[in-house]
Amino acid sequence: MRITDQPGATLGAIVEDFDHTTASDADVEALKQAVYTKKIAVLKNQDLTPQAFLELGKRLGRPETYYEPMYQHPEVPEVFVSSNVPENGKQIGVPKTGKFWHADYQFMPDPFGITLIYPQVIPEKNRGTYFIDMGPAYKRLPEELKKEIENTYCTHSVRKYFKIRPHDVYRPISEIIEEVERKTPAVRQPTTFTHPMTGETVLYISEGFTVGIEDAEAKAIDEELLKRLFEATGQYDDSFEHPNIHLQSFEKGDLLVWDNRSLIHRARHTTTPEPTVSYRVTAHDERKLHDGIATA
Ligand SMILES: [Fe+2]
Repeated sequence: MRITDQPGATLGAIVEDFDHTTASDADVEALKQAVYTKKIAVLKNQDLTPQAFLELGKRLGRPETYYEPMYQHPEVPEVFVSSNVPENGKQIGVPKTGKFWHADYQFMPDPFGITLIYPQVIPEKNRGTYFIDMGPAYKRLPEELKKEIENTYCTHSVRKYFKIRPHDVYRPISEIIEEVERKTPAVRQPTTFTHPMTGETVLYISEGFTVGIEDAEAKAIDEELLKRLFEATGQYDDSFEHPNIHLQSFEKGDLLVWDNRSLIHRARHTTTPEPTVSYRVTAHDERKLHDGIATA
């Protein structure tokens, strides 16, 4: 196994000759350290079945199966499928996922630390995923904005982006909203936390999932503060030219592993829909998202 810095970018490491079936525990540890410090590791030349992809994920941590079954791979439910390519006329997984800034499972009480994406069908033109590293993004905030968010908390919910399922057709929208709020009530996290693996301060907010900000007494703060944070971190920049935004490209055989604690990401917009399929495995490492989340 060989790990080098990704050329031409501050983020990213390139990992060559990683074979999860033969990698030593020390190799896996080195890979994880690359993920925490360089934020994205690109494993090259991977040729894996969905089951083997899951096995690779298990080397990094304990897999989390996505809570909504329609996203699950029919044979390997731990594999989340994003696809706009029907197989034998049947929709597998869900099309057009994640076209908004988010951290994976941010709306859940116990988000995992590591996301793995294994692109299967790669678009010709608009390939790649946008990322913002919310560690440096926090550092670059104006000092007065940092002061304003001290001792505040944010609430996160899936409500804006919950995707209607096939069996929701003909259901009243109020019933679906009630179900979303009952099954996935908004969760509260500190606005910033200390990354347990690196010690850096992470600003844990995203335009897609963060729905409110409040003080230590749970009193709501005007949402204009959140909007200023989204603006300052680059999440309102539809040109994607904000200095915080990194476009990570990939090619066939690449498998991306990233730090889901400090990165938010967003699928790239395509005006002309191109066939796109990717598999995802997500894993809890040895620590919670941050030390304020109780261990079971
Ligand atoms: Fe995502």
